[in-house]
Amino acid sequence: MTNVVSLPIAIWDHPCSAADQQHALDALEHGSVLFFPQLRFSMEELEGRLLSPTIAAKSKNVSLDCSSGTLRGSSADEAELRLLRTMMQRFAASSGALLSHLLPRYKAGLVQGRTSFRPVEIAKRSTSWRKDDTRLHVDSFPSSPVRDKRILRVFSNVNPHGQSRTWRLGESFESVARRYLPSARRPVWGVRQLLRLLGITKGRRSAYDHFMLHMHDRMKADLDYQSKVDQIVFEFHAGSTWIAFTDQVSHAAMRGQYALEQTYYLPVTCMLDPSQAPLRILQRLAGRELI
Ligand code: SIN
Ligand code: FE
Repeated sequence: MTNVVSLPIAIWDHPCSAADQQHALDALEHGSVLFFPQLRFSMEELEGRLLSPTIAAKSKNVSLDCSSGTLRGSSADEAELRLLRTMMQRFAASSGALLSHLLPRYKAGLVQGRTSFRPVEIAKRSTSWRKDDTRLHVDSFPSSPVRDKRILRVFSNVNPHGQSRTWRLGESFESVARRYLPSARRPVWGVRQLLRLLGITKGRRSAYDHFMLHMHDRMKADLDYQSKVDQIVFEFHAGSTWIAFTDQVSHAAMRGQYALEQTYYLPVTCMLDPSQAPLRILQRLAGRELI
């Protein structure tokens, strides 16, 4: 079962003890969620204007590509967009500082992905079952293959009314894989090249991406599994932060409004123990390379 490991860090940009670094690395790579109950992301007074679901246009999130400054998914006016961009860039910088102090081993390999602001109440969103994050899943995205990279995410609950963000956490990655890998078909020859040529995927979908997508979909489609598998409910209170390898941790976001999130990609070879990576676990179970 997935564990939540608490660490008493309260400042984003502050050196961490060697003991905390070791503990964090070990817990994260073994599939735990790192929880920082005292690590609050503070919003400026003016940024209070951004705390409305109407900031997101039709999508559930607003996303920012920090390298180009491109903001997507918001229907806010010019002044609000400026505020939003500044706040999200500050969150991206804060999460980067936290990771560089807490997980210095990863520093050389981490690639920054999108930053997101999530102003819509999860429980009120309506989506297709495949996009429904209230169902337990491991992260895998149809258009964004990761190949030999991990998905590492930093979340902060910035709810101003004291509302928690409630997640369910399920069984270990290896248990999920043992359950769903046997029913997976091998990728059909030529299909992945075609997806890339048509621009449906950003780059080539590897056999690993194919099997991860299969697991993501089968977990979400299996309502019996959703209700019966061993799981815990965990409340990330307002003003707290957490980190997880979301390609490994079986998670479902049930309730909550207003969170910030930063995605990073990490090459499997940068891990202290690459044998814990979903790629390596699936390769071991499949008995072949999946790259
Ligand atoms: C998810 O990654 O499934 C959603 C997490 C969240 O928004 O809390
Ligand atoms: Fe997810």
